[in-house]
Amino acid sequence: MLALINQIVDKCLAAIQEASSTQQLADIRVRFLGKSGEYTSILRGMKDVPPAEKPQMGKHINEGRERIEQALAAKESECKAAELAARLEAESIDVTLTKDLPFGSTHPVTLVLDQIIDIFVGLGFRAVEGREIESDYYNFQLMNIPLDHPARDMQDTFYVTENTLLRTHTSPMQAHTMQEEKPPIRIVVPGKVYRADDDATHSPVFHQIEGLVVDKGISLAHLKGTLDAAARALFSAETKTRFRPSYFPFTEPSVEVDCSCPLCGGKGCRLCKGTGWIEILGAGVVNPQVLINCGIDPNEYSGIAFGMGIERIAMIKYGVPDIRSLYENDVRFLKQYC
Ligand code: PHE
Repeated sequence: MLALINQIVDKCLAAIQEASSTQQLADIRVRFLGKSGEYTSILRGMKDVPPAEKPQMGKHINEGRERIEQALAAKESECKAAELAARLEAESIDVTLTKDLPFGSTHPVTLVLDQIIDIFVGLGFRAVEGREIESDYYNFQLMNIPLDHPARDMQDTFYVTENTLLRTHTSPMQAHTMQEEKPPIRIVVPGKVYRADDDATHSPVFHQIEGLVVDKGISLAHLKGTLDAAARALFSAETKTRFRPSYFPFTEPSVEVDCSCPLCGGKGCRLCKGTGWIEILGAGVVNPQVLINCGIDPNEYSGIAFGMGIERIAMIKYGVPDIRSLYENDVRFLKQYC
């Protein structure tokens, strides 16, 4: 039996020596040391060993197993290291290899927003960002929007809690800025706003840019001059603007501002529905009540404000008929505007 044990151990060690992968070693382990493995089956012969020789034989069997285990462990770590090195070599990535990767492009909404910010910065405005989750107090109350105003309805506004909501316009940043800074104030506020609206020209999330000027002697004439200059920079040097009377609780007087149709130049076309004019924003002279609400003395200061929908401008500028194409992330659509 001793001879048999030695023979199997030698055979196993030779197999281990020849193995070249962890998989082969795992197979060898099963073949020799598994439940019905060649070495394990020796134990079955123990019952025929005379009792006096049993301890000696047992020791020999254990030593043999020990030698096999050691050889397996040594070879395993050798194979593992070699396999890891091979994998690292095969799976290496050249992170500097970018030449054939397609580049993204700036989204048309971002393009238009950046362009508008640049125009107003050129006119002496500073761009500030507000928060998208606002309180009822800033979004409505300070802006002089009464309790029964339709914008306050659950149908129009996404409420987070009874007194917190997703801002419905960028106007609450008027109030934050007037509370925090002293005039002269000249800011634009680009950002996302939220309304429960969804059709070809309305999206529940869209972008606005708010403008606010507060200083001594500011009037509707400054509003007209500023928006005229902005419209010419945004569309073309020939662009005209006109004011139509309107109503916002936070401005008085309030106006809707149209510009001459950038597509037909005012002759009348499909885009302007034959009128020659396109509505681009809402604006007005800051209601003295809003100045008071925000701690500014209306006898000393006055202000003008405007709010523009960016998607609307992008749709006019690029002739996009459906607002939803701006959000579908269809690369064929988006890459036209880079
Ligand atoms: N906040 C108004 C809106 O969202 C736009 C606006 C801003 C009008 C500032 C007047 C002055 O419709």
